[in-house]
Amino acid sequence: MVKTTISVIKADVGSVAGHHRPHKKMLDYAKQKLAEAKESGLIKSFYVYHVGDDIGLVMTHHKGENNPEIHKLAWDTFKEITDKISKPLKLYGAGQDLLKEAFSGNVKGMGPGVAELEFEERKSDPIVVFAADKTEPGAWNLPLYKIFADPFNTAGLIIDPSLHDGFIFEVMDLKEGKVVRLKAPEESYDILGLLGTPGRYAVSKVFRARDMLPAAAASTSRLSFIAGKYVGKDDPVLIVRTQHGLPAVGEVLAAFAVPHLVAGWMRGSHNGPLMPVSFRKHPIVTYFDGPPRVIAMGWQISNGELIGVDGTEPADLFDDPFWDYSRNLASQIAVYMRTMGEIMPARLEPAELEYTTLPKILAKLESRFKKVD
Ligand code: F6R
Ligand code: MG
Ligand code: MG
Repeated sequence: MVKTTISVIKADVGSVAGHHRPHKKMLDYAKQKLAEAKESGLIKSFYVYHVGDDIGLVMTHHKGENNPEIHKLAWDTFKEITDKISKPLKLYGAGQDLLKEAFSGNVKGMGPGVAELEFEERKSDPIVVFAADKTEPGAWNLPLYKIFADPFNTAGLIIDPSLHDGFIFEVMDLKEGKVVRLKAPEESYDILGLLGTPGRYAVSKVFRARDMLPAAAASTSRLSFIAGKYVGKDDPVLIVRTQHGLPAVGEVLAAFAVPHLVAGWMRGSHNGPLMPVSFRKHPIVTYFDGPPRVIAMGWQISNGELIGVDGTEPADLFDDPFWDYSRNLASQIAVYMRTMGEIMPARLEPAELEYTTLPKILAKLESRFKKVD
């Protein structure tokens, strides 16, 4: 059977009112470009979204992961938006995530974030795509652990025989560019040992242990490791397959009910709560350039196509009054974290800071530091 691939490729190529949200013309351009690619047969279906200042392209096709044509389509889309819209309109941070000049076959390592999952479609295949702004790939560590390894979150791990064998976590060392596969529940403590350092280790894939069915894929780029210096947070995406032998949509979403602290937020240099929001109503960042937020888009996959609630328009999974509870909690945590100003752990450790005056302060004070006996 021919396999289906979902590719989610995203980038921040400029925004209106600071790092707030893209211009409508940018989104329209992306839709037009992907409509042409669909017409030509390269992709089977698509959806264009934004969360904060990031534009995401969700594409389905039969060409597999890391396909140069699909990656080129995304690269060209972001490049053309930058040249034709963001730069002429002097949008803020025009082209900020396009770190390289020329495309060389794969957008990984060039700035845009990529999550891709190739699989054989089941009889019915519900998926959720999460996208976050003002944070890093390690932000998924905690929810992914809850979803696929914590029975206090996912009841199915205990009571559904097809989940009972557990899941394999592929964890990437973002600095070394290496991956390791570990099995939950047997190796849970080792998994958590790595996931506890989200700036260095992030989950890249999850597989169902009993048959290696691909269950989730996350973007794992770190712009700073590519550029060799801080160039903005990576604002990650995550694809999760659900139901019928996988965690239910409700179990997947439940992992976001209590907003956990993630690195990013203002100047990419603070810990803040990840706030779950409706992608239609609130995919914007305001308070202290945040707080960091996450949207959840739900589809069925059918014969290589995204099936939403109306065409490819996805279900808006955090658009439910229940999530007001989480949003209020996130607002309270955000204000509380701000009372700590620039004192860690509200501020990130020096190596993770987007901009730092610390070396300058140290240089200035060097002669005034006196040795103590
Ligand atoms: C964080 C982010 C913003 C900016 C902040 C300062 O990833 O995009 O919080 O860091 O608005 O931006 P500049 O230095 O461009 O004025
Ligand atoms: Mg930006
Ligand atoms: Mg962003």
